[in-house]
Amino acid sequence: MLALPGATVCTTGVATIEHAGAGEPLKPIDPLHRDDLVTIYHADSTHLPFIDDESVDLTVTSPPYNLDMSYNGYKDDVPYQAYLTWVETWARTLLRVSKVGARACINIPLDTNKGGKRAVYADYVQAFTRAGWEYHTTIVWNEQNISRRTAWGSWRKPSAPFVTAPVEMIPVFYKQTWKRADEGKTWEIDAKDFMDWSLGLWTFPGANPIRAGHPAPYPEELPKRLILLYSYREDLILDPFLGSGTTCLAAKKQGRRSIGVELDENYAHLASKAVGGRVSRLNPSAGSLAEDTVVIT
Ligand SMILES: C[S@@+](CC[C@H](N)C(=O)[O-])C[C@H]1O[C@@H](n2cnc3c(N)ncnc32)[C@H](O)[C@@H]1O
Repeated sequence: MLALPGATVCTTGVATIEHAGAGEPLKPIDPLHRDDLVTIYHADSTHLPFIDDESVDLTVTSPPYNLDMSYNGYKDDVPYQAYLTWVETWARTLLRVSKVGARACINIPLDTNKGGKRAVYADYVQAFTRAGWEYHTTIVWNEQNISRRTAWGSWRKPSAPFVTAPVEMIPVFYKQTWKRADEGKTWEIDAKDFMDWSLGLWTFPGANPIRAGHPAPYPEELPKRLILLYSYREDLILDPFLGSGTTCLAAKKQGRRSIGVELDENYAHLASKAVGGRVSRLNPSAGSLAEDTVVIT
């Protein structure tokens, strides 16, 4: 249990205190959305002091990639080593809030070209293992996105050609033990899906950012598969980088409780709407909104 003064424990594994930052006072935090299954916070996920120790069973997330994506509230362009240090910090936080036997599935690029070639996937595996997670496997998501293929390096010459893989990676980590006990638990994945999805090459298209009202959503198929493969119905799912709310929506459809945390207030409201809540406030100047987004100012 997190030893914060005045922290209140509730059945969703959520306490009601947020750490405002190093040296700053603790302050209460209320969820922006709460229903029977979903709790959404507009907050920073770096330390998550409002989530109890050892309360989460499965994390499914896609963090910012440090690719200078134009998110509203987050600067997605920091020196690479500082980015990796931050990744290790929140990986430690995830370990703290995770139960023994919990899993973490992190959707990230294989590599990037920004500021020189970076083996992002390899660096994430190192950062997570340094943070105390055990490596289990990697799912390769064949997103079939070849529209990014603009740089050839040296066209048809071996002097400096570029090879680009149109895939993203989902390394799967666990806390201390991989095998979980089935007693008292419910699961529902069917045999065909289990056979197909346990082959670690998944092929389906990405999500439409315009439709999602968010610059970098993943498709619902991604968290849906991970949730059905890696969690029991009784489990608590966490997405610390919730974006437009895809993970919480997928978890809700599978009857799982989930917590989503999003730094940007507009995206947090978007996520609330996606899972069935009402959009109470959006700042239209802060980002592109889907055509069918309800804007209440
Ligand atoms: C790649 S997007 C996630 C997209 C999401 N999977 C979806 O389907 O919409 C990463 C999100 O992390 C948020 N973010 C960045 N830093 C954060 C932080 N420290 N705490 C919480 N959220 C953060 C960004 O605002 C952005 O919405």
